[in-house]
Amino acid sequence: MEADTLIKIQAQFAQDVYEGLSASPKHLASKYIYDHKGDLLFEQIMNLPEYYLTDCELAILKNNREEITNLFLKNTTSLNLVELGAGNGKKTKIILEELQKQSSNFCYVPIDISNNALLKLKNTLSIEFPNLNVSPKQGTYFNMLKTIESSESTKNVILFLGSNIGNLSHSQAITFLSQLAAGMHSNDMIFIGCDQKKDPQTILNAYNDPKGVTEAFNKNLLHRINRELDANFILDNFLHWESYNPQSGTAKSFLVSKIDQKVQIAALDLELKFKAWETIHTEISQKYDDELISELAKAAGLQITAQFSDDKKYFKNYILTKTALQKL
Ligand SMILES: C[S@@+](CC[C@H](N)C(=O)[O-])C[C@H]1O[C@@H](n2cnc3c(N)ncnc32)[C@H](O)[C@@H]1O
Repeated sequence: MEADTLIKIQAQFAQDVYEGLSASPKHLASKYIYDHKGDLLFEQIMNLPEYYLTDCELAILKNNREEITNLFLKNTTSLNLVELGAGNGKKTKIILEELQKQSSNFCYVPIDISNNALLKLKNTLSIEFPNLNVSPKQGTYFNMLKTIESSESTKNVILFLGSNIGNLSHSQAITFLSQLAAGMHSNDMIFIGCDQKKDPQTILNAYNDPKGVTEAFNKNLLHRINRELDANFILDNFLHWESYNPQSGTAKSFLVSKIDQKVQIAALDLELKFKAWETIHTEISQKYDDELISELAKAAGLQITAQFSDDKKYFKNYILTKTALQKL
């Protein structure tokens, strides 16, 4: 990673922690969970029986790989497969394998805020796909998207898997999709994974496993602030709490202070006071249905042109393209 990028990410982390923990109610951004330890914990989460999202999306990609890659390669001889928040690329490798069977002229561009995740991904790809043209980019989604050339002659397919969109509120999701749409040509597409509304208990269980892996993942935010910003959070003084509102389809993760306590963050020259049962909101994981995705897409100048689901209809992947008015 370039030193500049690292300094910018660390400065932004410090600023966001300062603002989030000085606010009322307190909040922190879930993107900061993903450091070396956070990446490992997320890999464990992907393998938990309760976390159905990964297996469902994996099944969708396996069962529809030919149709999906045919759509990606339609009307082009040259393709950029850009993945936002690539993580360990476990699911993407199914698509990469199928694309390699059908075309040699494509480049895979994984984008991730976690340098560690990208390095690992690059290493595994060089072994499993030695002939693959890979161009990893470390940074946040839009900062990195800006650096990718967009042209009529090369089709950009933007992968956004794992229901990562669910970490955004509806207004943030519309802004996010609108920004993607603004840089898209008429032939470009977004392939997006969206976890669906379902039995509320199934959803709650996915974010509250009995082994405590999700708890450790959520608390990694405090661990990271301790390590990188010289703070003294005692992790046992906080509990992990998950809620799900079946009406709005919004799951929320919190860290809840078990006691009255003070915490110092030396690098920010900040002392925090927590009352017993005060919360830090750390993540939202929105759940969707077709209607909601259509609404968000429409508000961003996009439309659903294809969709794929698993047998239980727990998860869906949609292909979004620009609506006629929006096409460049
Ligand atoms: C929930 S994991 C999903 C990984 C993979 N897409 C999957 O479906 O298994 C989210 C990934 O997105 C990355 N990420 C989260 N927020 C990000 C942001 N704002 N910009 C870039 N990467 C981000 C994290 O580092 C992590 O690797």
